[in-house]
Amino acid sequence: MSLGLGEEQIGPEEATIAARTLALVKRGLIETPPGQWVKRDAHPKAHGCVHGTFTVSSDVPAALRHGLFATPATYPVWIRFSNGNNTPDNKGDIRGMGIKLCQVPGPKILDDEKLTQDFLMIANTVMPVGVPGEYLALFETLINHTPWPAIKGIPFLHLLRALGNIAETALFKPTNPLLFQYWSTTPFLLGSGAMKYSARPCASMNAEDAKRPEDPGPDFLREAMVRLLAERDACFDFMVQPQTDAGAMPIEDAAVRWSEEASPFVKVGTIRIPAQKFTSPAQDMFCENLSINPWHTLVEHRPLGGINRVRRAVYEAISEYRHTRNHAPRTEPTGDERF
Ligand code: HEM
Repeated sequence: MSLGLGEEQIGPEEATIAARTLALVKRGLIETPPGQWVKRDAHPKAHGCVHGTFTVSSDVPAALRHGLFATPATYPVWIRFSNGNNTPDNKGDIRGMGIKLCQVPGPKILDDEKLTQDFLMIANTVMPVGVPGEYLALFETLINHTPWPAIKGIPFLHLLRALGNIAETALFKPTNPLLFQYWSTTPFLLGSGAMKYSARPCASMNAEDAKRPEDPGPDFLREAMVRLLAERDACFDFMVQPQTDAGAMPIEDAAVRWSEEASPFVKVGTIRIPAQKFTSPAQDMFCENLSINPWHTLVEHRPLGGINRVRRAVYEAISEYRHTRNHAPRTEPTGDERF
């Protein structure tokens, strides 16, 4: 069956796959010894959380003026930069950028935060695998160190594609989290269709700062952010890419890159991060206790596709679990917190 723009197709096994994915993610946290701090299962290592603003542009093209992008406005934000794993920064890993816009009016999908709009991105254009069953198979393989039979559930061509997509991560040599581009990889509702989104350092950011140290240490990404923000502001263009072809730009396969020739990214906002110090223990703890979740969103930007639907089951449950274990409050930030 061919799908229309923005249309989803829920797989028959999806509820079971989501439950198994959640159980697997939770297993790692349950195994944290009593008394030890329970970190996020994914993206546990933060380079830091910085405050800033997100300004919706006044010249957003009419076709993209939906939800957040319908009205020019400036919102306070918290942004958490992370590694996908608890790895030293000089080892290959996925790099994350989680943005939480605060004080955003309008109906939201989840009940735990009423005024936030979160955008989660990684420094990869696509996911290694793009459908829930394949994600679970890959995850089981990595966690259990048993390549067989888990990956036999992944078609051979998709396995090859996954290796190519993983190579993208392995070959990427990061310099400074404030100086490279991030992508949502998964789609979200925009009007009656869909979008992916991306944050790219503004043209004004000096590429000279993007030099990698000759001998990068285990925390060199945090150190690079500290150095840059001690001297000047940082800034990103926030862009959306509308889906224009439901076949070539699928909703249900997050391992397919949407062609930028067919549909270029269009700037809809600016993220400004003023020069600041962000490394106090109190600010790091605040950062640790944030819950950045793609389902913290205006209803107009509902996450789409199987990978995002699985994330609905996982993120909230995991956030609740780690906060309970840590005796930490789950609170909704205002964006005005300072440390
Ligand atoms: C089924 C697929 C996925 C699963 C099971 C999953 C799981 C998780 C979990 C459990 C967390 C920690 C949540 C918390 O404790 O608050 C997390 C965080 C994160 N995930 Fe995913 N994830 C998935 C897909 C993705 C995708 C497609 C992206 C691409 C943008 C992504 C990017 C991130 C980022 C950037 C964070 C860190 C957010 C922060 O800074 O707090 N994840 N993920």
